[in-house]
Amino acid sequence: MTLRFVLNGHEVETETIGADVSLLTWLRARGMTGTKEGCAEGECGACAVAMLRTDTHGRTRFEAVNSCLVPLAAVHGRSVTTVEGVAASEGALHPVQTAMVHAGGSQCGYCTPGFVISLYCEYYRPGRSAYDPESISGNLCRCTGYRPIVEVAQRLQHPESDDATLALLERRVPAEARIEASDTAARFIRPTDLGELFQSLSDYPGATVIAGGTDLMVAANFATPDPAQTAPWISLTAIPELRRFEITGDAIAIGAGLPLNDLEERLAEEAPGAVPLLEQLLPLFSSRLIKNRATLGGNLGTASPIGDSPPVLLALEATLILASSAGRRKVPISEFFLGYRKTALRKGEIVAEVRLPRPLPEIQRFYKVSKRVLDDISTVSAAFALDLTRERRVARLRAAYGGIAATPLRALAVEDRAADQPWNRATIESLLPLVDRLGSPLSDMRGSDVYRKAMLGRLLEKFFFETATAAQAAE
Ligand SMILES: Cc1cc2nc3c(=O)[nH]c(=O)nc-3n(C[C@H](O)[C@H](O)[C@H](O)COP(=O)(O)OP(=O)(O)OC[C@H]3O[C@@H](n4cnc5c(N)ncnc54)[C@H](O)[C@@H]3O)c2cc1C
Ligand code: FES
Ligand code: FES
Repeated sequence: MTLRFVLNGHEVETETIGADVSLLTWLRARGMTGTKEGCAEGECGACAVAMLRTDTHGRTRFEAVNSCLVPLAAVHGRSVTTVEGVAASEGALHPVQTAMVHAGGSQCGYCTPGFVISLYCEYYRPGRSAYDPESISGNLCRCTGYRPIVEVAQRLQHPESDDATLALLERRVPAEARIEASDTAARFIRPTDLGELFQSLSDYPGATVIAGGTDLMVAANFATPDPAQTAPWISLTAIPELRRFEITGDAIAIGAGLPLNDLEERLAEEAPGAVPLLEQLLPLFSSRLIKNRATLGGNLGTASPIGDSPPVLLALEATLILASSAGRRKVPISEFFLGYRKTALRKGEIVAEVRLPRPLPEIQRFYKVSKRVLDDISTVSAAFALDLTRERRVARLRAAYGGIAATPLRALAVEDRAADQPWNRATIESLLPLVDRLGSPLSDMRGSDVYRKAMLGRLLEKFFFETATAAQAAE
């Protein structure tokens, strides 16, 4: 199949090579080596490129993505800007490049194209008013030291009115083009509605569903190519039904294919304070570069015991809407994880929606224990949700943990024991032995089993001390 897209303002055509070939590999093979490969797993941001998209307000804007995690076929019909394309003309510098030079924001220069791209996207972000540390959260630098780079981000100017790029942002971005099943030389199908999706899933029973690709592409980048593997990847990114976000009286409905950045924005704008657990989780989840593509459906589909959303969704007692050609069914999240990386999904079925039942518990906290605060994977995580009576007794406690067993776990025994008890230190002390009996954590380079076990009780105590009154903490 011939892929067509806009690269640095010019239409390009290329034949597809295979579903799992990344945009980064293709760019560099074409001699566009400004975009660097540091890790090929989404960690460093050296491979960042800007893609035009329509944001949740219908505005056109740039988003920075890791090109090592974007399949080449996924850019069909899209517009991509690499570091070679940011300046207005050859030999000139873009204002963010000039600012990096003046600040001394580059030494070996390996990370610089990635920072320039993230800053470029931020420079043109509609409605930008203050410095947003997240704008460069996915870019790592090994030698400059971050101070000069952060200063550039903090002092970012606004575009001049004659900046030609502004005209680009006035134009509508076309919806993602369909990639037909008949084009499967690409081994990449991109349906634009659920009917087509289910048809493709039944036509290709061995197919892999891909949403943001932030898990799948990491695996693909390090896998040995298998010529016998001919089943296609089926993309969910062009299906509007999977990107919905709706608040009704009895639920918050989140499309499983809604990128996490969009989810963060929609929550902040349409329901600030409504779901503290998600508001606390999302800033700790990877980086802006990853969240521009990663989805809740992918976090559930990958079923990692250290995925960050499952403990949160367990504590919020989410319902998953699973959909296939046979129809839709509701599955409580507590019944979704069946074993290590095993879920209740049937053949040809996807997670279509995550529903959070309202009213949600009033007091909510998410804790992520990791080696770095940001852009890291959990060693252990915990999510707590609590309602207290007027007398400050426990009306409802929901407690869930990640990283302590083959699946994310809900601490049912702890929840039951806490019911109707006063929210005080004595109650917490009585819960700790039950917490100790939870899970059977592994030892790995992130932490020993003993450390992980010790964290479980400490996180419950932390939750208590953060939510109790001074009198209760002393009781
Ligand atoms: C640098 C980096 C940092 C990361 N940080 C974190 C982090 O802080 N916390 C965390 O939890 N994870 C993290 N991840 C993992 C990853 O980003 C998340 O799991 C993400 O939510 C995956 O979503 P995706 O749409 O990219 O999934 P994909 O890679 O597209 O898919 C992942 C799996 O889910 C399946 N799938 C996708 N969508 C659906 C669906 N709707 N229904 C059924 N199955 C589906 C796919 O078939 C595949 O098996 C990180 C990854 C990277 C590379
Ligand atoms: S090469 Fe490191 S994030 Fe892509
Ligand atoms: S300048 Fe060398 S890695 Fe950043």
